[in-house]
Amino acid sequence: MTEQAARKPFLYVVVCAAGVAADLSKLITAAQERDWEVGVIATPAAMNGFFDTAAVEAQTGRPIRSAWRAPGEPRPFPAPDAVVVAPATFNTLNKWAAGIADTLALGTLCEAAGLGVPIAVLPCVAEALAAHPAYRESLERLRGMGVRFGEPYAGEPGKGGGGREFGWERGLDLAGCR
Ligand SMILES: Cc1cc2nc3c(=O)[nH]c(=O)nc-3n(C[C@H](O)[C@H](O)[C@H](O)COP(=O)(O)O)c2cc1C
Repeated sequence: MTEQAARKPFLYVVVCAAGVAADLSKLITAAQERDWEVGVIATPAAMNGFFDTAAVEAQTGRPIRSAWRAPGEPRPFPAPDAVVVAPATFNTLNKWAAGIADTLALGTLCEAAGLGVPIAVLPCVAEALAAHPAYRESLERLRGMGVRFGEPYAGEPGKGGGGREFGWERGLDLAGCR
């Protein structure tokens, strides 16, 4: 078997600064159980205590990426076969839809969509924010780009999340990670 044929598919997990990110390891475990390799790209805000970065680096065997590489440096991750954005914040979804690329996470998402890489999004957005007209327009625009969305999740019991599980594996299903 050639080296190319032996390579596992590579999943980019884009993580934003929402409280539920504390359970990110669940998504990584589920992806690895499906025989995918995982690289995590976090927004700068998400690196500020939202999840255990050392544990995630140990779990994936790769550094978390959050900042742009320097010109001339090699790309630290292979090209993605699929992308899961989880949790996805109000802020990142609106900026992505508007074509803003001022974080590595956003630049990666804008580019992946343009390349036709399958992208699944698990939003974690409170109902009060989700009612903003800009958010509704952002979702419509991203859906029109082919981005696949999981069920709305508000993050707090009784406020749309209803205390239910975040449903990390749904992101893998939507992104086609078999
Ligand atoms: C403890 C905490 C929990 C948060 N949870 C959420 C959330 O569930 N959804 C959301 O959209 N923003 C949430 N925020 C606000 C975001 O962190 C904030 O909008 C930030 O700018 C998002 O940055 P990012 O999209 O680059 O990750 C939370 C903030 C804090 C401090």
